[in-house]
Amino acid sequence: MITGKYPSLRLRRTRKQSWSRRLIQENTLTANDFILPVFLIDGSNKKQSISTMPGVYRYTINRLSQIIDKALKVGIPMVALFPKTKNSLKNEIGSESLNENNLVCKAILEIKKKYKNQIGIMCDVALDPYTSHGHDGLIKSNQIINDETIEVLINQSLLQAEMGCDVLAPSDMMDGRIGKIRKALDKSNYQDVQILSYAAKYASSFYGPFRDAVGSKGSLKGDKKTYQMDFKNSDEALREVALDIKEGADLVMVKPGMPYLDIIKSVKEKFKIPVFAYQVSGEYSLIDNAIQKKLVNEDIIYESLVGFKRAGANAIVSYYADRIDKIIK
Ligand code: PBG
Repeated sequence: MITGKYPSLRLRRTRKQSWSRRLIQENTLTANDFILPVFLIDGSNKKQSISTMPGVYRYTINRLSQIIDKALKVGIPMVALFPKTKNSLKNEIGSESLNENNLVCKAILEIKKKYKNQIGIMCDVALDPYTSHGHDGLIKSNQIINDETIEVLINQSLLQAEMGCDVLAPSDMMDGRIGKIRKALDKSNYQDVQILSYAAKYASSFYGPFRDAVGSKGSLKGDKKTYQMDFKNSDEALREVALDIKEGADLVMVKPGMPYLDIIKSVKEKFKIPVFAYQVSGEYSLIDNAIQKKLVNEDIIYESLVGFKRAGANAIVSYYADRIDKIIK
C-alpha cells in the first residue's frame, strides 16, 4: 500500500496550503446529507423549548411552517416527525398511534397541503410515544410480544402512508416487521412508500434527552434490551441488516451514531446500500453542553458530522440539520 519513503515522501507537502488541502479532501457535507427531526405538541401557537436539548423545540401544528420553512431554506431534503403525546391519550396498547387525528397524522396532512413534495416526510413506526409504559411494543406477562405488536405496526404504517408519509421508519426492532409492513403497503397500493429500517438500533443510554422530548422518560418501565441490540455486538448488526434488506427495506439506519461508526462502515462495505446514521439526542446534548460550557469550540459539530460521511453514511439524522448552512460555512 505505502509507496515511497521519507525523506523523499512527505505527506505534509499536500497539507501545506489551503488550496491543496481542498483538492485532496475525501469527504464533504452538503445540506442534501441531512434529515431534521421535528417534535410535535398539541395546542396552538406554541414553540416550546426542551430543557435537555438546547436549541431544539416542540411545535404545534399551526406553528410547524416556522421550522419547515427553515428546513427548506437551508435545503435539507427531509424531516422526521416525532409526537409528544398527552399522557391522557396514552394507554397500555398505544391506541392513539392508530387515531387518524393524532399529532403525526395532522402534521403530515398540514405539511403535504402546504409544501406538496418540496420536502420528504419520514415517520417513526413504533408505539413508544403512545404507550403508558413507554415501550415500543405491546406487553403481555411482562414480555414485549413480537407478532401481536407487528399487527399494530402494520396498521400504524398504513395510516401514516394514507396521510401522505413518504418514508416509513420502523424503529421498534421487532423481528420480521419489515417484510410484513412491505407486504401490507403493497397490497394497499402504497408501492411507492419507502421503508427506512432502523435495522441496527442499539439499546442505548444516548436516547435519554429524546425520551424527555417526547415525554416517555418518566413512564418507561425497565429498559429496551429484549428488543434493541446489545452494544457489545457487531456481527449481529450485519444479520439484522441482511434480514431487513431481504424483507424489503429500501434504506437502513444505524443508531446511535458516533459510538457506532464501525457499524456504519461495515454495513456500507458489506451491503452497498443507502445507509443512514442517527446522531441521537444524547450525542447532541453532550456536544451542545460542552460548547456552552466552553470546554470545546463549536467546530466539533462539523467534525462530528463529517465523521459519519467518512464512515460511509449517505445521510445523517441530526438535530443540527436546521442550522447546517452555518455549520458547513
Ligand atoms: C423510539 C425512538 C427513539 C429514538 C427515535 N425513535 C428512542 C428509543 O428507542 O427509546 C431516539 C432518538 C434520539 O435519541 O435522538 N422508537
